[in-house]
Amino acid sequence: SSSQTSPTRHKIVVCTDLGPTLPLLTERHDIDVVSWNEPRRCDRAWMLQNAVGASGLVVCFQNIVDREVVDAAGPNLRVVSTISVGYEHINLKVMADHGIQVGYTPDILTDAVADSAVMLALMATRRAGQSYTFVKDNQWPTFHWTPFAFCGPQISTTSFSPTRTVGFLGFGRIAHAVLKRLSAFGVTHCIYTPRPGAPDQSARDENLRSTLNLVSVAPVDLETLARKSDVLFLLAPGGEATRHLIDESFLRLMRPTSVLVNNGRGSVVDSTALAKALKEGWIWGAGLDVVEEEPQVGPEHLLVKEPKCVVLPHIGSAALETREEMARLTARNVLAGVLGERLPVGLDY
Ligand code: DGY
Repeated sequence: SSSQTSPTRHKIVVCTDLGPTLPLLTERHDIDVVSWNEPRRCDRAWMLQNAVGASGLVVCFQNIVDREVVDAAGPNLRVVSTISVGYEHINLKVMADHGIQVGYTPDILTDAVADSAVMLALMATRRAGQSYTFVKDNQWPTFHWTPFAFCGPQISTTSFSPTRTVGFLGFGRIAHAVLKRLSAFGVTHCIYTPRPGAPDQSARDENLRSTLNLVSVAPVDLETLARKSDVLFLLAPGGEATRHLIDESFLRLMRPTSVLVNNGRGSVVDSTALAKALKEGWIWGAGLDVVEEEPQVGPEHLLVKEPKCVVLPHIGSAALETREEMARLTARNVLAGVLGERLPVGLDY
């Protein structure tokens, strides 16, 4: 009735595609939703213009959320909700200064990313990129089959090749899920580099070792990681602390039959050094879901041109079920944030 005060209305700006979960926001009567609907990356100018007065922002890893965005939004802004586990596109200092909550989507995507890491490892070792291109280029009809054509190193262990070491740069949830999958391939040893200053994890490692039936799980230094890994998975967060950890000197220590798989952030690898390593055969191959220069990665990119490098366009978590669940959590996070509630999954920063 007219004697009731009208409820506070909140504005949520959605800079990415929440798919079938958008109605969680649009069907509410206390919320105005402004969403970017073009089939391309959200314009920065659109974001800045529409952020004005917003209580919540929904973004993906391609939308930079910095002081300029927060200033454009103004004092109503309470929450930024990203549809990603990574958050280096969000300036946490600015968030803290303004008391803005940050929602993100860890855990949900762990299995989907682990699946794709294993896919890339298999593709890189067994030359899937090269052989797929071979068929597309109509070279099969004249192919002279030989027992050693298109061969590559085997990931699974066998009676005649009984040990395999997998290495991890970044040994968190996704790495553990990759290791679990690879234990079914008979991988025997796992090595990883702990984060600087990380507490002793020998009990956890022993638990992983025995549950997954491995010979050993152990922390090592960067040099040992390079020297010993048959398959090396990069699953570390991006940012300055990990920038170019994989550089020329690291790659020179690796084995000519080893492969590198990157499902973390492109900035961890020096692209030029990796292209050189592939060209000169310091390593066998690479499977990359992320590249430093992305999304500016065309057919002329030095890694795309390398025959033993498989490059995918950052699709690690792009499993239908997972993306829908990520979108749902992203919507629930922003909703909780604008209503002043505790986020279902918020970042502690
Ligand atoms: C993430 O979650 O951080 C991925 O890079 C995008 O899904």
